Amino acid sequence: MLIQNMAHLIITFIVVSIYLTPVFAQTNSSSRLNQGQVLRDGDTLVSPQQVFELGFFSPLNSNLKYVGIWYYGHQNRTVAWVANRDNPVSGNSGVFRIGSNGSLVVSDRNGVVYWTSNRSTDGNNLNANLTVMLMDSGNLILSTVGNAGDDSNAIWQSCHHPTDTYLPNLRVYLNLTNGITRDFVSWKTENDPSTGNYSMGIDPQGSPQIVVLNDTSNRRLWRSGHWNNQIFTGVPQMRSLLQFGFRLVQANNGLMYFIFNNANTSLLMRFLIQWNGVVQQLSYDTRISQWNVMLSQPTSGCETYNRCGNNGVCRRSNAAPVCNCMQGFDQSNGRCVRRSQLACDSNGTNDGFVQLTDVKLPDFADLVGASRDDCESLCLRNCSCNAYTYLNGIGCLSWAGDLIDVEQFEQGGETLYIRLADSDLGRTKSSSKTVVIAVTVTGALILVVIAWFLWRYRQKLKGCQSPCGETKIPPSVFEASDGQQIPGETSEHLEGEGKDGPPLPLFSSRVLEFATDGFANKNKLGQGGFGPVHKGILPGGQEVAVKRLSKTSGQGLVEFKNEMILIAKLQHRNLVRLLGYCIEGEERMLVYEYMPNKSLDSFLFDETKKAELDWKKRFNIIEGIARGLLYLHRDSRLRIIHRDLKVSNILLDEEMNPKISDFGMARIFGGNQNEANTNRVVGTYGYMSPEYAMEGLFSVKSDVYSFGVLLLEIISGQRNNSFRTPDSTNLIRHAWKLWKEGKPEELIDPLILDSCNKTEALQCIHVAMLCVQSSAVQRPTMSSVVFMLEGENTSLPQPNELDMTSLNSAEMDLLMEGREINVSSNDVTITEVSGR
Ligand SMILES: *[C@@H]1O[C@H](CO)[C@@H](O)[C@H](O)[C@H]1NC(C)=O
Ligand SMILES: *[C@@H]1O[C@H](CO)[C@@H](O)[C@H](O)[C@H]1NC(C)=O
Ligand SMILES: *[C@@H]1O[C@H](CO)[C@@H](O)[C@H](O)[C@H]1NC(C)=O
Ligand SMILES: *[C@@H]1O[C@H](CO)[C@@H](O)[C@H](O)[C@H]1NC(C)=O
Ligand SMILES: *[C@@H]1O[C@H](CO)[C@@H](O)[C@H](O)[C@H]1NC(C)=O
Ligand SMILES: *[C@@H]1O[C@H](CO)[C@@H](O)[C@H](O)[C@H]1NC(C)=O
Ligand SMILES: *[C@@H]1O[C@H](CO)[C@@H](O)[C@H](O)[C@H]1NC(C)=O
Ligand SMILES: *[C@@H]1O[C@H](CO)[C@@H](O)[C@H](O)[C@H]1NC(C)=O
Ligand SMILES: *[C@@H]1O[C@H](CO)[C@@H](O)[C@H](O)[C@H]1NC(C)=O
Ligand SMILES: *[C@@H]1O[C@H](CO)[C@@H](O)[C@H](O)[C@H]1NC(C)=O
Ligand SMILES: *[C@@H]1O[C@H](CO)[C@@H](O)[C@H](O)[C@H]1NC(C)=O
Repeated sequence: MLIQNMAHLIITFIVVSIYLTPVFAQTNSSSRLNQGQVLRDGDTLVSPQQVFELGFFSPLNSNLKYVGIWYYGHQNRTVAWVANRDNPVSGNSGVFRIGSNGSLVVSDRNGVVYWTSNRSTDGNNLNANLTVMLMDSGNLILSTVGNAGDDSNAIWQSCHHPTDTYLPNLRVYLNLTNGITRDFVSWKTENDPSTGNYSMGIDPQGSPQIVVLNDTSNRRLWRSGHWNNQIFTGVPQMRSLLQFGFRLVQANNGLMYFIFNNANTSLLMRFLIQWNGVVQQLSYDTRISQWNVMLSQPTSGCETYNRCGNNGVCRRSNAAPVCNCMQGFDQSNGRCVRRSQLACDSNGTNDGFVQLTDVKLPDFADLVGASRDDCESLCLRNCSCNAYTYLNGIGCLSWAGDLIDVEQFEQGGETLYIRLADSDLGRTKSSSKTVVIAVTVTGALILVVIAWFLWRYRQKLKGCQSPCGETKIPPSVFEASDGQQIPGETSEHLEGEGKDGPPLPLFSSRVLEFATDGFANKNKLGQGGFGPVHKGILPGGQEVAVKRLSKTSGQGLVEFKNEMILIAKLQHRNLVRLLGYCIEGEERMLVYEYMPNKSLDSFLFDETKKAELDWKKRFNIIEGIARGLLYLHRDSRLRIIHRDLKVSNILLDEEMNPKISDFGMARIFGGNQNEANTNRVVGTYGYMSPEYAMEGLFSVKSDVYSFGVLLLEIISGQRNNSFRTPDSTNLIRHAWKLWKEGKPEELIDPLILDSCNKTEALQCIHVAMLCVQSSAVQRPTMSSVVFMLEGENTSLPQPNELDMTSLNSAEMDLLMEGREINVSSNDVTITEVSGR
């Protein structure tokens, strides 16, 4: 009986095994299909990390069956690739397999073939065992079993035969010889995957750009603008950030391809040519399980191809497109035509150029092998050249014929030089005599300028003989590519001091608005002296802190930019890192790395979290601040005086390492001392040295004073601003009192008193007392402070007691109580005496 049962079991097992063989035989059962196995309607392959799924599907309201790849587990199916788009299977009898000749086949049970992949008949592979694997990138790779999932050894892969969707991290090859490619073709309608009327591809002319075509009329509908090695110039808001964004790569085999890098695999993104000809960039929001549209082109505005006709310019005004003819062109029968014919002398003496700034450059550019200096004269000498420009990252571009599809942006874009006849240039007619004078004057001026530059250069050379404090930036700030550049080009992004280090990314305010949910209150991290700070998530998923500067910095655009570049070069582990910035109209924003542990005060003055800061952590924080400050004062090439050092400006990273924030602000805001009314710096009273608060004098020693106050706060766990005991109204007085009475240990936070290293703590108190001496001269410098903190047995000088002679007691009280005031750099104006 038992044996019979056993036999029965075994037989059942064998039968089941045989039945299930196709499934069991697969090594990675769900993501691969081997030659000899079949995928029936209803079965699916799932990529290893369960990102994509492959199988038969029917679109909405349809019974037709297609083999496709879609996102795994999404409520509403989003199809990224379709095999038999023009030849669906009707009914449920479809099968997907690797055919005996080595191509992928969609057929039905009767052997009717609906679709096959075209494989290159490679004799070596014909007899090999093949496998097809669905990758987490959405790519389907046909290869030998030994090369499963290896795209560099693929026999066939779906990403070379896309339908309407581009997926990140996959390659789109350019065909430089064949002209425009039409890689992506839209669906016919929203629910019909068959070949539609619109395609998207790459036009390599001039410098590559993405174009969308209406295949019915063979007209262009939209283009991205030329690739300048960093962005598509017609979409200035589409910045490449960190490990995120488009790159153009020269492959080993001489081919070139575009790739959209997205290092964050948990962030789903796709680019799509919709059935109606609209290009979209979408990202998936897992919280609401929906695709968000990040970019949609063309809208009804100026993005529509050649919206204003040839030689016209489209500008946006109150969101509506407005058309104008370019300078030197007049409206005639609804077209823009040249006012005066070009002279086009053989030596080109009578034509000139006008600038059109901030534009999306015209279509059909020719790339001319010329330097920046020769670009203009080359155009002038060529009668068919109607415009030119020179772009970093591309080179000299010129245009023949009409200027097509030009849009003028409010911000960003390039400068176009349009060729006009002399009479249309708007130059004042000048007699030959004034020409001579002008030439002489100009010549003299040029000489002066050259002399000045030479002098500057020599000064610089001199200065550089001693160490210049050069800090090399690790190339992570703007990793737009793996370093490849068009040969002979340096990417001058912003005119920085040197060409060391990558450019500081410029963000558009739209990106930052999107990142912070429109500066929503829920994302507000705090309010600094110079404006509010919001948490944001960049399109790549990176978390950042965005500081929106109050609009009265009083600094010019150029100075601000230069200042930013310098500050971005400051790199120290105890300084918060600047990742980028934004300047748009009045708007100025700074993008910093995000610190998950917020600021020191959220721990130090929080009754529950305070205990997390044991002495070891506090001492580490003290040392870190000291080193960061020393770097600002001495080791950086800028010599920055912080001027607003306080607990809330000390941020903490995951490991509770301190990072000083707001450190370039004093510099940025103190830039021009002449405009007194715009030049207000908000300091915080309890931290201000007497000479700064009373006389507006600041020096490195005023920072040392603030550091001393910080030290006392960290050691005592008490806020200087709100400290009260029966006989002291502030922490510094209290500290002095205890110091004089010889019991400084009473200052130590009771929470850590028993566990702390007493010697270290007392040493720190001693240093703090030295730092808060009212005589700036007697205060140590930060380098001595660092030395004193680190040296174990150094004997320290005795601090001098608070010097009350120079200040009356009312002033002193005001000074030491926590009050925020506005201090202009010229004179002290206490505009706001509101106790907190
Ligand atoms: C899946 O395949 C990979 C290599 O193709 C192998 O290393 C791995 O062990 C397989 N996993 C399973 C569960 O068989
Ligand atoms: C799925 O699609 C339906 C119909 O289009 C829509 O109403 C619903 O909101 C979608 N669900 C999600 C999660 O997007
Ligand atoms: C491969 O075989 C299928 C049928 O199995 C056929 O339709 C297809 O044309 C063949 N492809 C090549 C390249 O021979
Ligand atoms: C295979 O090649 C034929 C002829 O070149 C072409 O008509 C067909 O569309 C190709 N099929 C695929 C799936 O690319
Ligand atoms: C293909 O696989 C079968 C069964 O695993 C094996 O017998 C055969 O030798 C393999 N063929 C090649 C060319 O590797
Ligand atoms: C580009 O087009 C030419 C001509 O049709 C063709 O020979 C070549 O293989 C194509 N290159 C690529 C990368 O597709
Ligand atoms: C696509 O073109 C065909 C033929 O020109 C036309 O009948 C159809 O309406 C077009 N479809 C769309 C979505 O424009
Ligand atoms: C594409 O071209 C066809 C035929 O000229 C036209 O009917 C259709 O409106 C065009 N589509 C778009 C989006 O312009
Ligand atoms: C330019 O050409 C004109 C006539 O075409 C000639 O008279 C003049 O000398 C030329 N100027 C130069 C600088 O070559
Ligand atoms: C003249 O300029 C046009 C327009 O850019 C260009 O196509 C052509 O090759 C140029 N001719 C010469 C001789 O450089
Ligand atoms: C990746 O993206 C997800 C979803 O947007 C985000 O939560 C996560 O922080 C990102 N990871 C990194 C390393 O940026």
